[in-house]
Amino acid sequence: MPSPKRKILVTSALPYANGDIHLGHLVEYLQTDIWVRFQKMRGHDCLYVCASDAHGTPIMLRAEQEGISPEALVERYTVAHQRDFAEFLIEFDNYHSTHSAENREIVERIYQALKVGGHIERRTIQQAYDDAKGMFLPDRFVRGTCPKCGAADQYGDSCEVCGATYAPTDLLDARSVLSGTAPSQRASEHLFFRLGDFEGMLREWITGGRLHASVAAKLEEWFAAGLRDWDISRDAPYFGFPIPGEQDKYFYVWLDAPVGYIASFLNLCRKRPELDFDAYWGKDSDVELYHFIGKDIVYFHALFWPAVLAGSGMRTPDGVFAHGFLTVNGQKMSKSRGTFITARSYLEVLQPEYLRYYYAAKLGPGIDDIDLNLEDFVARVNADLVGKIVNIASRCAGFVHRLGDGRLTDVLHAPELQQDFVQGSASIAEAFERREFSRAMREIMALADRANVYIDQHKPWILAKQGDTAEALAVCTQGLNLYRVLITLLKPVLPQVAAHSEAFLRIAPLNWESLQSPLLDHAIEPFQPLLGRIDATMLESLVSVPAAPAAPAAPAAAARPAPDIEPIAEEIDIEAFSRIDLRVARVLSAEFVEDADRLLRLELDDGLGRRQVLAGIRAAYGDPASLVGRHVVVVANLKPRKMRFGESQGMVLAAGPGGEEIYLLSPDAGSTPGMRIR
Ligand code: 2FM
Ligand code: ZN
Repeated sequence: MPSPKRKILVTSALPYANGDIHLGHLVEYLQTDIWVRFQKMRGHDCLYVCASDAHGTPIMLRAEQEGISPEALVERYTVAHQRDFAEFLIEFDNYHSTHSAENREIVERIYQALKVGGHIERRTIQQAYDDAKGMFLPDRFVRGTCPKCGAADQYGDSCEVCGATYAPTDLLDARSVLSGTAPSQRASEHLFFRLGDFEGMLREWITGGRLHASVAAKLEEWFAAGLRDWDISRDAPYFGFPIPGEQDKYFYVWLDAPVGYIASFLNLCRKRPELDFDAYWGKDSDVELYHFIGKDIVYFHALFWPAVLAGSGMRTPDGVFAHGFLTVNGQKMSKSRGTFITARSYLEVLQPEYLRYYYAAKLGPGIDDIDLNLEDFVARVNADLVGKIVNIASRCAGFVHRLGDGRLTDVLHAPELQQDFVQGSASIAEAFERREFSRAMREIMALADRANVYIDQHKPWILAKQGDTAEALAVCTQGLNLYRVLITLLKPVLPQVAAHSEAFLRIAPLNWESLQSPLLDHAIEPFQPLLGRIDATMLESLVSVPAAPAAPAAPAAAARPAPDIEPIAEEIDIEAFSRIDLRVARVLSAEFVEDADRLLRLELDDGLGRRQVLAGIRAAYGDPASLVGRHVVVVANLKPRKMRFGESQGMVLAAGPGGEEIYLLSPDAGSTPGMRIR
């Protein structure tokens, strides 16, 4: 029996609009997108909204450093983020910005309500001030020696060595990261939100099963430590919204960031007048509201946020779902280890659904970190998606065309097995609903194993050889029906494979309802490979494509910092060097690679023949035709690497940190293709 239609509003945390989306971010957006797609497939009325988190000191300073307006910086990243999300098949119903008219309107309304309710208090505080730069310094912009353990160069709020937390004033020899000068102390009046007023409300709110047990336990600790008032104002200069009625004061970015959830929804309402804003955000709303977040921002979402909403007469969330962090090969992503992988660099090498599946296979409802082990990633994707799932369709479809003119039979060969699959979907739906994605994937793969065993037992290839056409067709029809169930169950995770499967089976979009009715007496298209195996060499490309230069953790005062000089690599002997076959090659053609932001496809004459090299130099050579005829240096004996856009046969040598700063090496005039470089 179909469950009653639910109204659900879902959000993911708003990404800061001053950095690239990387595989760590994607844990959350993929988790949310899978959950939302599942709800939509169940027939529920589910909306997923997000936005750029646009305000705050780091964005203001980064824009200043680039010599552009913060608005322009935010716009650039908003466009780039949306493109990354779309290519990872993350489908928002709306994407907006916290620097928007809607957000300003709502944050002002909320502030006014909190003020009227007596929940805002004024207090004068002492804060670090950079006299050279003429601004107050957030804790992270002060560095110095840890007062507890003496470790040098620690942040103003906590020590990465001993874990101590303190105020920037406690640091020994504190200095501003902006000007390098010692900060002074200045008094300033700030506005505080009286969080303590909401302790009773919050204690009740967390008992409603809205949080995972591990998160609820964390909140209990915070209650025990006592809820502290929250400073919601910042002094000019600041990129944010001015606080009405105040001079040179702005709302702190963390006040207007979650309000961005509401603003994005309000923006959607303006595009879709049938949506009733108050039915979603009013006090008596019966719409389910869920926030997906990382475990590092629980305090903001499970204490401040429900309290702010309650204090301003709005509804509170029904769930705040926190996830853990991503590690790569068991360690924090790291640029120096080559494991800091941006969404863009991944997309240049691999298809998005591999990662969607791998994350799903690892994700549970709690805050455990998840590990992307690259070897395991290749093995699991190849074994499960290609070996178990796609294989079923490729094993059966050929016979249906060869023996049955592309038409499925009109009865099921193993109706009990089909029934088992359909019944199995209930537990899988429950797993999706509870965000136990790893369990869902395990159960789906167990069904896939059964489908493969069924085909192995009935051997349609032998039946076909023996001339038992009817039986062979019946088995393959059954096989494809099992495949159809599996693809339906995997559709929240693999939307593109599902869409291709729908086209192959010539059917309307699959949803949970369609599990009930098998596909019989029906013509299908010829089978096209839906997803290929990952070649382990693709991963080499993934971690070796040069990453764009990193945004500095805290902006430097200079307009444009000199590139870091990399340390000299590990010493090698002459024998090791002589094994590298470097040759002169001539560029025969150079062109953009469609959909690959960083790559150029070069055709080279290396003296012995032609070879194709995919080089990550597009940002530096926006006019590829200018490279034609140029002599370059190629590593001729580098093992060819398969990339998403073809094979790269060698590598051209270039200097520079990456991005626009890449300089191809060229031998002097007189050299000819094929000459060995020594
Ligand atoms: O931690 C972050 O990346 C923040 N930009 C998340 C904001 S979530 C919400 F509050 F907007
Ligand atoms: Zn310390």
